[in-house]
Amino acid sequence: MKFFRILSCFIIFTFAVVLPTHAKDMVVKEPPKSLSQFYPPESKEPKWIQQMHKLSTHFGGVFINLKEKDFANVDKHADQLLEEYKKTSKMVPEWKDYFDIKAAEAFTQAAKTHDIAKAGKASGGLGKTCGKCHAEQEVSVWAQFHWPRFHKIKVTDPITEKEMGFDDYMSTISSSFKGVTVNFGEGQYGRSAKALKIFKSRFMEMKSTCSKCHTTDDVKLFYVGKIAESAFDNLAKELNAEKPNPGQFWKNVGLLGKTGCKHCHLTHRTASFIQETWEKE
Ligand code: HEC
Ligand code: HEC
Ligand code: HEC
Repeated sequence: MKFFRILSCFIIFTFAVVLPTHAKDMVVKEPPKSLSQFYPPESKEPKWIQQMHKLSTHFGGVFINLKEKDFANVDKHADQLLEEYKKTSKMVPEWKDYFDIKAAEAFTQAAKTHDIAKAGKASGGLGKTCGKCHAEQEVSVWAQFHWPRFHKIKVTDPITEKEMGFDDYMSTISSSFKGVTVNFGEGQYGRSAKALKIFKSRFMEMKSTCSKCHTTDDVKLFYVGKIAESAFDNLAKELNAEKPNPGQFWKNVGLLGKTGCKHCHLTHRTASFIQETWEKE
């Protein structure tokens, strides 16, 4: 479901350009430039994430130790949480308003009373500051720093042997697909069969792109795997038959479109949409 949340954020984002924002809208803005210094390639370590883990560990550490009545460690985690929270608030100047140092101090004080009810109550104010920033910034940060960029990938077209950008390759694949379906619709089965060979070769060439980002071959079971192979075989069988069966033809076209194109788009394209919008600005 997380995926659909991201997708709907994207849709909302598109409309936000023309419509005024309402309380429940989400704007996916490019993260501030100063955040880059805490992520690769500028920083060797993903320092922002490491900082988040510190906040989370000390926040959680307070409650774990309160339950264990290990009060020395309650105090330690409470102090460290405040210290790290203050430190984090200075890392990205554009984000300083997300932090509420008073809420963090109030929580530390409440924790040090060693009264779990008081600590629980005070944690709400601090926790809200974490939640607000996550709700507004996490998707943007993932699109910017976690998703590799498809449009930097080059593909060599097996038909023309020309190297081209991934987007252009997609347009090429898309028109090859239409060569198959349009000719079939016109009853030109010979042309459709010829177009199918070209389309299949271009489609399977997409396998060469997976390893640009993935380190295991298992992923190739999807989109470009057995389902696609068998759909191509069935399409060729129909086109070479005395009298091709339209029902069978369109069923396999649908299968390719869904499990070959759409499923990959649903997994991989959302981040591309967002990245592209930022790059156009
Ligand atoms: C000013 C913005 C901001 C504030 C305030 C903030 N965070 Fe985060 N946090 C982020 C962003 C952005 C990410 C996503 C980082 C990423 O995935 O690269 C994140 C991710 C996290 C993660 C997940 C890390 C992971 O490994 O994926 C945890 C846990 C976390 N934050 C804890 C906290 C806690 C606890 C607080 C409050 C005490 C807090 N954060 C306050 C911005 C913020
Ligand atoms: C590896 C996963 C993957 C597969 C499989 C895939 N696509 Fe794509 N497609 C993408 C991504 C990612 C983009 C966005 C490209 C970018 O950002 O550079 C895209 C973009 C497109 C575009 C828009 C091109 C443009 O110029 O913006 C079209 C059209 C398209 N795909 C058609 C198809 C068709 C038709 C199929 C199936 C025959 C298919 N794709 C299979 C990942 C895939
Ligand atoms: C530009 C980088 C890129 C390319 C190229 C790419 N992927 Fe992915 N893919 C990702 C990222 C990032 C994820 C999210 C999870 C991860 O990192 O594995 C993902 C997720 C997936 C998943 C979901 C399961 C999983 O392992 O996380 C599958 C399946 C998948 N990709 C298949 C493919 C196939 C098949 C190809 C080639 C046809 C391909 N990908 C090409 C970046 C890419």
